[in-house]
Amino acid sequence: MLIKRQDDIKPSEITNPSLYARRREFLKGGAALALGVALPVGSALGPAYGAAKLSPLTPSRFNTDEELTPYEAITTHNNFYEFGTDKESPAKLADSLRPRPWTVLVDGEVKRPREWDIEDILKQFPLEERIYRLRCVEAWSMVIPWVGISLASFIKAVEPNSNAKYVAFETLVDQEQMPGQRSNLFGFGLNWPYIEGLRIDEATNPLAILGVGLYGEVMPNQNGAPIRLVVPWKYGFKSIKSIVRISFVEQQPVNTWQVQAPREYGFYANVNPQVDHPRWSQGQERRIGDWLKRETLMFNGYGDQVAQLYSGMDLSKNF
Ligand code: MTE
Repeated sequence: MLIKRQDDIKPSEITNPSLYARRREFLKGGAALALGVALPVGSALGPAYGAAKLSPLTPSRFNTDEELTPYEAITTHNNFYEFGTDKESPAKLADSLRPRPWTVLVDGEVKRPREWDIEDILKQFPLEERIYRLRCVEAWSMVIPWVGISLASFIKAVEPNSNAKYVAFETLVDQEQMPGQRSNLFGFGLNWPYIEGLRIDEATNPLAILGVGLYGEVMPNQNGAPIRLVVPWKYGFKSIKSIVRISFVEQQPVNTWQVQAPREYGFYANVNPQVDHPRWSQGQERRIGDWLKRETLMFNGYGDQVAQLYSGMDLSKNF
């Protein structure tokens, strides 16, 4: 986030065409899904926690048909400061994360506070395939076939009360599993836990999901196993990984990057090409794998679904 600019992307970070093989495999799987056949998710890669399988995926009406970013790029070019500050570290170091057993505490202004076991979440809510653009604040982007559950359905199940104006999310704190949380090990310390927040109407927008996998397989550790937020109309930093707590609150939460650099990162973090980052333009982006830059779209191209959430707000102030 604070470290690299778009022009710092090295050729080694730009995907080799041979990696597109992965996409062909995925599309074959997609054909199986269209026929109603469940994918044996998790078997192909042998995730660290073994037999976890995801049930059949329902396709979403929000899917983009743009070229998918190869699996290898999605899983080796990551921001996950709990595992270091450069893009390669999470893929190398996130083996120490143990995504099972895992619980997510739901508390605050809800009728049904509860500690959810991840297995119960996976059993109770339908899994959907959501092919979304992800636009990082650092001006690169990807197209990712997520597997997720609707955040709106999850919120409905826990029944927030009328005091719940915002939803706050927290990542695990565990220095043993997350080496980046050990006192400034990488020369750069965020305040832990990593925290993010959404307004309740943002959180219940149909586009927002809790991601539990990608490319039809369980979520790789470096992408935020076992459960993370995905909010495609916002810069990637909103999409908090490895969530252990979801709290319904009355006051606007202060998110991690706001604390770290309030001039640079706001609460809303909507993709907005008209509001430059203080240190670089947000007008364009480089899709990982492409040489040429492309124009960045307002709300990352999801304006039809979300622009109404911000009507009447000055988005240059509420950035
Ligand atoms: N969540 C946690 N807990 N820690 C992080 O450092 N980085 C954010 C977000 N979620 C981050 C996080 C940022 S800056 C981005 S761009 C996305 O995760 C990247 O997600 P990806 O690595 O799956 O592409």
